[in-house]
Amino acid sequence: MIVFRKSFLAITGLFICFFLTAHLGANFLLLLPAETARNYYNSYSAFLRGNIFVTVIAYVNYLCILFHIYYAVVISVKNKSARSIQYELKNNSDNSSWSSQNMLFLGALIFCFLVIHMANFWFKVKFQHNESDLYQMVFNLFHEPLYVAIYVFSALPLGLHLSHGVKSAFKTLGLYHKKYLRWIADLSVIYATVVGIGFGIIPIILFFK
Ligand code: HEM
Repeated sequence: MIVFRKSFLAITGLFICFFLTAHLGANFLLLLPAETARNYYNSYSAFLRGNIFVTVIAYVNYLCILFHIYYAVVISVKNKSARSIQYELKNNSDNSSWSSQNMLFLGALIFCFLVIHMANFWFKVKFQHNESDLYQMVFNLFHEPLYVAIYVFSALPLGLHLSHGVKSAFKTLGLYHKKYLRWIADLSVIYATVVGIGFGIIPIILFFK
């Protein structure tokens, strides 16, 4: 059962990474010159909303987020009750980084960010049909220093969570051959850094735009 739970955690986590990569790519459009950014960002989001394939992916992503949280909590609770095993594993360098020891805490911070983020955009688009100028909505939000701070600081737990999570997911799914151990670990850190810095820098650049 533990293998099933960990595999599910890994698969849902990797799917969320796929979403995050596409989401970051789309949000980089915001950095183009103002009118080009407005055109591209608004056309892109209109295209996404009208596409059934993207809608299915969006719902799979929502489910992945919910299951990822559920299995992360279940596994952590089980691990706590088998604390002695945890202590035995502590010598393993893979388990001794600060991020790996605090994945649930980092995940909780990301979850808090996500609640704020959904209220900022997703809720307004889906339920208030306030989607005519999404670029302007993002632009306005990132001219409020409090939100800039929330988005920038939330990129840190996101990066730390990913730097351990991606590596760990590959390991759980058996895609972590000893020969490529260093390579996958490095790739996870590079991916996490790009995503963390990418999401963290967009609000700052928009603030000064
Ligand atoms: C610069 C930072 C970000 C910006 C400007 C941004 C912008 C947006 C916007 C405008 C939407 C609404 C799109 C729509 O419904 O048409 C959205 C949705 C969403 N964002 Fe972000 N986002 C950012 C960072 C993040 C991060 C770091 C995460 C995850 C940790 C995230 C997760 C999501 C999710 C799950 C949705 C819902 C997607 C869907 O309905 O398919 N976003 N974001």
